[in-house]
Amino acid sequence: MVVGDTFFRGGDIETPKISSSEDLNKSFNFRYNNTQRVSDISKEVKKPKIVYVGMSADLIHPGHLNIINKAKEFGEVIIGLLTDKAIASYKRLPFMSYEQRKIVMENIKGVKQVIPQETLDYTPNLKKIKPNYVIHGDDWKIGIQKEIRQRVIETLKEWGGELVEVPYTQGISSTKLNNALNEIGITPEIRIKRLRRLLESKEIVRILEVHNGLTALIAENISITKEGKIKEFDGVWISSLTDSISKGKPDIGFVDLTSRLNTINQVLESTTKPIILDGDNGGESEHFEYMVRTIERLGVSAVIIEDKTGLKKNSLFGTEVEQIQEEVSKFSDKISRGKKAQLTDEFMIIARIESLILKKGLYEALIRAKAYIEAGADAIMIHSKEKEPTEIIEFCKEYSKFENKVPLVVVPTTYNYIIEKEFIELGVNIVIYANHLLRSAYPAMKKTAESILLNERAYEAEEFCLPIKDLLNLIPERKE
Ligand code: SPV
Ligand code: MG
Repeated sequence: MVVGDTFFRGGDIETPKISSSEDLNKSFNFRYNNTQRVSDISKEVKKPKIVYVGMSADLIHPGHLNIINKAKEFGEVIIGLLTDKAIASYKRLPFMSYEQRKIVMENIKGVKQVIPQETLDYTPNLKKIKPNYVIHGDDWKIGIQKEIRQRVIETLKEWGGELVEVPYTQGISSTKLNNALNEIGITPEIRIKRLRRLLESKEIVRILEVHNGLTALIAENISITKEGKIKEFDGVWISSLTDSISKGKPDIGFVDLTSRLNTINQVLESTTKPIILDGDNGGESEHFEYMVRTIERLGVSAVIIEDKTGLKKNSLFGTEVEQIQEEVSKFSDKISRGKKAQLTDEFMIIARIESLILKKGLYEALIRAKAYIEAGADAIMIHSKEKEPTEIIEFCKEYSKFENKVPLVVVPTTYNYIIEKEFIELGVNIVIYANHLLRSAYPAMKKTAESILLNERAYEAEEFCLPIKDLLNLIPERKE
């Protein structure tokens, strides 16, 4: 559409009536002059300034709106919405998925466009858009964001852009909102999905063993800051070993599903993080289907089943005790039946290969991995009880050559000196610290018990104990 036409139809200038050729000329001159006027005006209409705002925008609060309102004053607002991956690189995965956060942001008044910001670093997006302004809260002058801020300033300089900082909105904290959210809890649907979201967003998913509500609380809340990044456990492992032992039973499958459901419920109650259940060998295929349905309904994200048959023995006994590996076809069938039984797309069945434990060799392990993936396994766990990680490393290297790959899980209880960065390089996706909370709690409790016996009073043991006040505050009462 010609700008002049709009202008003529606008009604603020009267169009001359045409009834002769003279009128037509007049009309032409009129149009020409006025079109000229319009294009002169349009030359004067300045191109809007572009304002870039980087945000996680998980729980929108007045602080975010404050920044967007400020940004609006400077021009057209483009939100660089941090992807799950960008956020997970330095803190906990956001509550809402990228798509959900995008919908929210697109519907906020004054937001012109929402684009993904794939890294914490603003530079790639800034170079693409070349905004006139970047608007940010002034709270990023310290901490991990400090260097990012510096890079923003330097990049903007390349085309004369400017950083505008808005005073941090006091009295609102995303951390406090997050805590409030945790208190509200999480639904089974959201929890189940979280494991897959973590796998998509994190270089390695870090899982900690828990065996009751209290240990789940530790896994939920323990967090440290290292090199400016917040580090946490991403989810929990309900181990058959520690679940059995904390109930005073050996790890031989005696603690049945009903009893394990009790533990699962305690864990569900104390954490919002995804749960991976140790399902031993899954039992008979017919029983496994029921197990899948039951735990999926509760919100468990994944079950790991091992390819053994007969009386269950803990893998860390290795060949010291008799352990029989299941036939490939039978175990594959169990996986397929489990996959058919699940109701959501997100629940994961992870196949655990015991070939290295049973000294059957690398080749056997690889053949089984291929078969289990074909049967529908959503991930492969490779286990070893060697102190040296050689066989695990060999497996990972060969596995990385598979065309049809699923995430890889390891449990480094014996080969415990490998660090997570090395696992990432080996292509491992999930690392499970499978028994460490129970193993560390036991010697501490034993020491206290011995001290009381020795001293015939509890005075000396006090220094090993959590103060009563702290114990009472460990689990705050719910304020309705
Ligand atoms: C468990 O934690 O129960 C496991 C891992 O199955 S392991 O004990 O290493 O076999
Ligand atoms: Mg186990």
